[in-house]
Amino acid sequence: MKKTSKQRERFLDLVVYEIYPRSFRDSNDDGVGDLRGVIEKVDYLKELGVNAVWLCPCYQSPNADNGYDVSDYLSIAKEFGTFADWERLKEKLHARDIKIFMDLVANHTSVEHQWFQESRKSKNNPYRKYYYWSKTPKPNWKCLVGGSAWEYDEETGEYYLHSFSKEQPDLNWTNPKVREEMRKVVDFWIDKGVDGFRCDMLDFIAKDFKKGKMYEGARLHKYVRKVFRRANKEGLFLVGECQANEKSIRAVCGEKRKELTCVFQFDHFSIGRKDKFTPAPFSLDELKKTLVKWQNFTQKRGLLYTLFTDNHDQPFYLSRLGNDRNLRYESATAFATIFFLLRGIPFLYQGQEYGAVNPRYRGISCFRDVETIKYFEENRLKYTASELMKKINFGSRDNARRPMAWTQTPPYYGFSRKDSWIPVHSRAEEVNLERDRRSDKSVFAFYQKLLALRRENSALRQGAFTALKKGTGCFVYERKGEEEIFTVVCNFEKEREISLKGVGEKVLSNYASESGNEKYRPYEIAVFKRKIK
Ligand code: GLC
Ligand code: CA
Repeated sequence: MKKTSKQRERFLDLVVYEIYPRSFRDSNDDGVGDLRGVIEKVDYLKELGVNAVWLCPCYQSPNADNGYDVSDYLSIAKEFGTFADWERLKEKLHARDIKIFMDLVANHTSVEHQWFQESRKSKNNPYRKYYYWSKTPKPNWKCLVGGSAWEYDEETGEYYLHSFSKEQPDLNWTNPKVREEMRKVVDFWIDKGVDGFRCDMLDFIAKDFKKGKMYEGARLHKYVRKVFRRANKEGLFLVGECQANEKSIRAVCGEKRKELTCVFQFDHFSIGRKDKFTPAPFSLDELKKTLVKWQNFTQKRGLLYTLFTDNHDQPFYLSRLGNDRNLRYESATAFATIFFLLRGIPFLYQGQEYGAVNPRYRGISCFRDVETIKYFEENRLKYTASELMKKINFGSRDNARRPMAWTQTPPYYGFSRKDSWIPVHSRAEEVNLERDRRSDKSVFAFYQKLLALRRENSALRQGAFTALKKGTGCFVYERKGEEEIFTVVCNFEKEREISLKGVGEKVLSNYASESGNEKYRPYEIAVFKRKIK
């Protein structure tokens, strides 16, 4: 077993909260969330108990993909506010010991970025080689939103490469100038005082044209080391969005390599779906298996792991794999416990803390996401209208992008006082923060307790993980620190007996009454603590 260094272990103290600013809080009633809106809620974040914020892109952008199409990396989008607002936000967060991580979109720019504007002008423009251009689009790659990854551009009669939507041309990282530009972007934000970066589609920056692979080319490591040289030297937190198998995780997250702190690992998202828009039967034991595998793998090698069920690209986990109707509180708190007491770095996504669920709409006019709309257009003839809407309601990224429902008051529920850029959540009346906090089954209050428990007990942060064999239908594990052992018991959807001996005192549960025996009810969790003798 390889030990994680003390230097690295401190990252296990982090609890990160992801903010999708467009849908968080609109301070000036133009229907779009903004930085002043985030500033208003800093104390709220402190109260919840997180100590870092990942801010999704808030740079200038034409918003083909809500900011993931950046047209100026060194700016703040007007609709989000000014640089002064950003500075104020950073200061306010720092004053409360909350770190700020920016989203670095390094694989592609917007078509409106000046580099691309120049690049498309002529074949011998100095910026031509900032992107991938080809007369014959090869290899025959598909972009992630469907259709060819090559887009014909009339101006010069060639095709450019885009791994995501056609409004997001891929930067050509084989060009040292591009690497240098991106290093400058990173260092600019370090100068501004950020504490880390979440790195969008990072494995795509290195491609292997010969092997026909759009991502994870051999040079990835070299590029990453170069761009984050200073970031690593200064001990910043770097989490990559990467296709991550065992080998690549070791390669990119090993401490000595000076590349990334950790990556998002997405295996647990393939459970319960055939593809992004099609559900499949599942058992939560598959989830347990996946989590145990990655816990053991990362722990054994002293690597860090990320813990998350939700983000701005995914329908809410609770709706997909839990019961978001009559056991909403129980399943929300069960997933929170299962994930956030594991060994790794918890990432919460806005809304998760009040048990947010997927909404439902009848028509495509209620959706904004570029991927969803593309999917709708491409599948119109394949499915009946209602089948198609069912798929979209199941899998759309807009599930997680509805405005936060802060209050119980319709029609805007505390997000704004005007129609928002995307229709409000269809279940906002029933699922909102105000109502949650008034309830005696408050998801928010549970999160507060859970995060406080983590904060106050180093065993739950740095302690060793061991899965206990208790059969199917439940997940039981231990976290062992220097002085204490915690036993985390999570029952799945069916009532079940789980017998445990000598686990100590119960310090957290999500059912008010005791069952009085060893029977665990649907999604019941319990955490026990005992001293090591
Ligand atoms: C990442 C982001 C996603 C975005 C895509 C293209 O997957 O999380 O929201 O659309 O990259 O930048
Ligand atoms: Ca606004």
